[in-house]
Amino acid sequence: MAAPGAKTRVQAILLLALSLVLSSHVVSAFKDNEFKKCAQTSFCSRNRGVQQGQNFEIVPASLVLNTATLTATLSNKPASKTLQLTLTSHADGFVRFMVDELPGVGRYQVPGDVLVSGWETKKAAFKEESRSANQIVLSSGDARVELNFQPFTLAISVKGQPALQINSRNLFNFEHRRTKQDSDPAGYWEETWMSHTDSKPKGPEAMSLDLVFPGFQNVYGIPERATSLSLRPTNGAAPYGEPYRLYNLDVFEYLDDHPFGLYGSIPVMMAHKKGLTVGVFWNNAAEMFVDVVKPGRDTAVQWITESGIVDLFVFVGGSAPAVLASYAKVAGTTALPQLFSLGYHQCRWNYKDEADVKAVDGGFDEHAIPYDVLWLDIEHTNGKRYLTWDSSVFPNPIPMQEDVASRGREMVTIVDPHVKRDHAYYVFSEAEKAGHFVKNKYNNDFDGWCWPGQSSYLDVTSPAVRSWWAEQFTLDKYQGSTKHLYIWNDMNEPSVFNGPEITMQKDNIHFGGVEHRDNHNLYGIYYHMATAEGLKLRGSIVNPESGDRPFVLSRAFFSGTQRVGPIWTGDNAAQWSHLKVSVPMLLTLGLTGLPYSGADVGGFFGNPDAELMTRWYQVGIFYPFFRGHAHLETQRREPWLFGPETTARIRTAIRGRYAMLPYIYTLFRAANTSGLPILRPLWYEFPEAEELFAVDEEFMLGSAMLVKPVSAAGASSVDVTLPQGARWYDALTGAMVPPRTKSHRVQVTLDGIPVYYRGGNIVPRRERPRRSTAAQANDPYTLVVALDDKGEAAGSLYADDGRTFAFTRGDYLHRDFTFKGMKLTSTAHQEPGLPAGTLTLPLTVERVVFLGLPPARRGYKAVIGGKHTVPLEAGPLSMLAAQAENALVLRKPDLPVSHDWTVEIVAA
Ligand code: NOJ
Repeated sequence: MAAPGAKTRVQAILLLALSLVLSSHVVSAFKDNEFKKCAQTSFCSRNRGVQQGQNFEIVPASLVLNTATLTATLSNKPASKTLQLTLTSHADGFVRFMVDELPGVGRYQVPGDVLVSGWETKKAAFKEESRSANQIVLSSGDARVELNFQPFTLAISVKGQPALQINSRNLFNFEHRRTKQDSDPAGYWEETWMSHTDSKPKGPEAMSLDLVFPGFQNVYGIPERATSLSLRPTNGAAPYGEPYRLYNLDVFEYLDDHPFGLYGSIPVMMAHKKGLTVGVFWNNAAEMFVDVVKPGRDTAVQWITESGIVDLFVFVGGSAPAVLASYAKVAGTTALPQLFSLGYHQCRWNYKDEADVKAVDGGFDEHAIPYDVLWLDIEHTNGKRYLTWDSSVFPNPIPMQEDVASRGREMVTIVDPHVKRDHAYYVFSEAEKAGHFVKNKYNNDFDGWCWPGQSSYLDVTSPAVRSWWAEQFTLDKYQGSTKHLYIWNDMNEPSVFNGPEITMQKDNIHFGGVEHRDNHNLYGIYYHMATAEGLKLRGSIVNPESGDRPFVLSRAFFSGTQRVGPIWTGDNAAQWSHLKVSVPMLLTLGLTGLPYSGADVGGFFGNPDAELMTRWYQVGIFYPFFRGHAHLETQRREPWLFGPETTARIRTAIRGRYAMLPYIYTLFRAANTSGLPILRPLWYEFPEAEELFAVDEEFMLGSAMLVKPVSAAGASSVDVTLPQGARWYDALTGAMVPPRTKSHRVQVTLDGIPVYYRGGNIVPRRERPRRSTAAQANDPYTLVVALDDKGEAAGSLYADDGRTFAFTRGDYLHRDFTFKGMKLTSTAHQEPGLPAGTLTLPLTVERVVFLGLPPARRGYKAVIGGKHTVPLEAGPLSMLAAQAENALVLRKPDLPVSHDWTVEIVAA
């Protein structure tokens, strides 16, 4: 690309000035008053706490039950309006409750492509249990649904236990469409916030749902916000006197303990008590406010949304895994990521030029720290024209990527949805010509400010725009890209610097005449989807046989984002409290079906010291998405810049991540097939242990490992709660922890944080330190066999080419390992509905490490395949951190990983 001419240089200076203004805007503290509260929002204030529900009645004569579907007229008598209520029973473990106006009114419904296609058809007939003048009772599987007519209420129980009540507090409301009256109150047809006026052409159309979870003390979900896992009541002291908000926004310097909604929204809530978990999903993409209060032993929720319809899914499977599996039938499961993307990512705003990229890449090798991906932020572009390069600093992007790739690594560039309004920029001119931009209320291309200055925003809610956008990522279209370049979608809430609350006007117009008000929370997922489609398209061209999987990171999200790619928690800060809150934030995402997520390691804003950096890496290695990132104005902080001791600690931590990758990838496969979370709250694994229901300072990685972050400066000890009913082994030393009833104090040094294996699990690992995931491809495996009280354990290993879609045809290896009756066996894993794995890898299990074998006078030996005998020797648990010899190690059994085998352990 030619050097910028005089005119473009002037523009560049102006833009730099603008960027500086904006970036300093970004580094100023969270400005509470720039964002609306419920009382400042007409639809929220006119519904919050207002009892309207007694006005709503089912018209008994209207009721029709047709196998799996019940319909009835819901009348709002004082308003002389009728609504349509529909209840459907689905075979995949949920009941769907809908309220809409009569057909023809045309209220907005989330389009089918946001969710999985085909789920609607799998219905299960309702059984009519009883009917009277004021009630009908239906059942479906374990769920019982009681619909009361006057006033309208609905109660659902699961396995005989009350699970959910709708409108028992009379807070239900549904604002019907109307024609404008002079007497209408303020806020109905127009609303002003700071300098912005929302024209509200459709008038009021909000809804309020009144949900009570009877006997439940804990509810979880409705990300994204930086707060506790178990949602605190919203009738408390500030800031918890405000309802939780679901409205995707670019919130700079967000606070670490606040109900305020951040970049993404998943309208899913889960309630859990002993013996029962229930989940709800309100499939609605407009702005929402959610109040949570805890009267007596119950949790009561008022959930208010600005527009759309009531479309509530109630998941009645009874347990958290069952709720998530049912939700996944509707919203989808996690796309299986490329293996490289589970390695470590190094990012910064910005790596300055090609020499910088080379130096950082080389720095990892020099310091023997593994990593997989190097990222370039907005400064790599020609004036924030995405899909271009600043040729003064990146003159040779292709050789640069090829050089990084020659060491088995990948690169990522940022691509944001705002398009610089510049006719000389091909993306803008093509999109403008084709009419691909979101329109303002006057039907002109919307023009807002973002990084490049004046920008328009692609209307990715249109399938045609998404196809066009996807085509921009083929290698011939995206100049300077190679197949080793992946994408980061930022600012897709969408962020508009001069818009109301830093986003788009609600009266902007999308494809099909839809108002932005209705689909605001979908903008991010659609943009993410279109970009991922682009990389899929490119992947199918460069690899026509199997297609390469995409990798696109997004900041904004909605239900279904898990099918597209990972998200991260945005602009956190280099503070201990932000390290701490990252755990409940990621746990919440796991409980709402979006487990592939991470927080910026080190904290985006500010400068972490060596201790915070060390502790953050020690936790970050467990984040499903593991990336270090930093703001433009921070000091450089590559892992080797904090002195040799810190470098060594970070190296140990990151190597630990790479050693866990076989286990983590296997967990991703379970997320991919069944919707299971990767990081899990303790209660998810121990659902009967009430004392764990609100614990969010510890977490499980899958079902086999427990992690206690150290999130305070200068800590020399931490309190660890190890759930009862399981055996726990220190994952560093292999020592079994004596059973305890309460949390106990554990001494810590800067060398590590407390991590435990849970007895009963077999965990696959790869322990040879390597520079990247690619370099691990031919490495043998280690199995850690952590025995439970019965002397048993089980686990599995999933592996495939880590890159293509060949796994969907069965090109994968999936083994189950069990240890029982002193025999370790490997058998093929089988899962109904999936093709059998046919991949054979010429790799072996090179070590088996036993934890918890009972002492034997002369020790043990292993009999392999009934003949060959090898002694078990006392040794360290891991080759990576040689420590006390608390494990019994079977060395070099050379067991073929792709085949069935048995190893018997006998007394020597
Ligand atoms: C905001 C993102 O959250 C941050 O990660 C990024 O570095 C800046 N935008 C600049 O692109």
